[in-house]
Amino acid sequence: MEKSGRKRRNFIATLILALSGIWFFGAFFRPRLPSGKVRLDVSSRPVPAEGALVFRQARVALVREGEEIHALDLTCTHLGCTVAVTSSELVCPCHGSRFDRRGNVLQGPAKQPLRRLTVEERDGRWVVAG
Ligand code: FES
Repeated sequence: MEKSGRKRRNFIATLILALSGIWFFGAFFRPRLPSGKVRLDVSSRPVPAEGALVFRQARVALVREGEEIHALDLTCTHLGCTVAVTSSELVCPCHGSRFDRRGNVLQGPAKQPLRRLTVEERDGRWVVAG
């Protein structure tokens, strides 16, 4: 009787250990959120040659450089303020970092460029992901 009780306890302990291991490895290898998560989906409008289309709530700017249109994440890479767009550059109001229209740092304290997002015009809509 005691031997079968010990076997049962060993079986339950092994089962708990196995389930914990499966949960741990499942959590460890679970795919992260795709980096291509749609961040903005709006009716497309022309992007002005100077300036940009700015979507403050989504913290996204669509900027035209010649024929190319690119999307920038307006989150300052210094401490996370929302960067403002002017006709020639992007300026952080918090500590004065400046970025060119491609998001490259012109002046610190930010050291990293603004994050580039993917943008495509799909069925009359701007779809920005990243
Ligand atoms: S948060 Fe933008 S410069 Fe500091």
